[in-house]
Amino acid sequence: MQVTASAPGKAILFGEHAVVYGKPAIAMALSKRAQVKVTGRLDKKIQVNIRDLGIKEYINLKENIVTSNSPEKGILKYVLNSVKSVHQESGLDIYIDVNVPIGGGLGSSAAVTVALIAAVSKYNNIDLKKKEIARLAHKVELEVQNYASPLDTIISTYGGLIYLKDAKKIISLDINHDIPVVIGFTDSGGNTMCSTDTGKLVGAVKIRKESYPEIINPVIGSIEALTIEAKEAILNNDKKRIGELMNINHGLLDALGVNTLELSNMVYTARVAGASGSKITGAGGGGSIISFCPEGTEEVIAALKKIENAFKSDISKDGVKTTLKEVR
Ligand code: PMV
Repeated sequence: MQVTASAPGKAILFGEHAVVYGKPAIAMALSKRAQVKVTGRLDKKIQVNIRDLGIKEYINLKENIVTSNSPEKGILKYVLNSVKSVHQESGLDIYIDVNVPIGGGLGSSAAVTVALIAAVSKYNNIDLKKKEIARLAHKVELEVQNYASPLDTIISTYGGLIYLKDAKKIISLDINHDIPVVIGFTDSGGNTMCSTDTGKLVGAVKIRKESYPEIINPVIGSIEALTIEAKEAILNNDKKRIGELMNINHGLLDALGVNTLELSNMVYTARVAGASGSKITGAGGGGSIISFCPEGTEEVIAALKKIENAFKSDISKDGVKTTLKEVR
């Protein structure tokens, strides 16, 4: 038996960091998807091939280790914990193509985790509902990273465009128009999964909030207000407002202290090249930007590629998908 599964990466359009304080956020599933394939083997080993990173390793569920135990192969921790959550003994060959840029706040670890949990559970004839896949995947992210909001794993599981109300209630925004975006990201070229950076940045914002409560609390309140406004702008396809609100959100993220020179460069390069709005996406401190490009997509991609890397994405309506095939 062979099971394949895929799950999308994500980008936060509005509300990152404020969501940590119970405020709303808007996120979308990206067109880039992690792909996994699971087949059985005659021995009891579990071999993991991550093709785009050139990784070929064994994981040992009983002893909870990766054979190399090499820290730079952080992605294998997600793989180990994901497989463990739905599998016990028999041997497996696991093939993974991450496809989503790694370590840049685009939900690569969540996409791999969600796809793996879906594939391995299906291989074991366990019928997991999406809610359960999202729950298990979030648990894996917490185990590996210590800190993780459920946003990445929710988007990877359900796909589409999601408004997370009060940081917990999932409201799917069903729109008939597209939200064309360009993602700019730093091509680190490494093969790690950043497992601690988000936690560190969330911690840094907390310190700033505690040091300047009268200044930072209103900033977080403003992010809340603009996210609520952005939801209406998106539903009404008000492109001008969507772009403006993104720009305001970027300024407020800068005030929270998560901007960097390289992110700023990308944000302004995208605007100069024609994006209606652009901002940091995700935790910041490096990583990625998102720009809203109802027009001039190619120009924005070309300009970003001159300094870093970029790709175009639409909202992927599909969340996690699995296919089962009998192989002889
Ligand atoms: O960079 P990411 O994808 O890990 O996004 C983090 C978003 C935060 O709001 C900063 C934290 C969170 O878990 O929601």
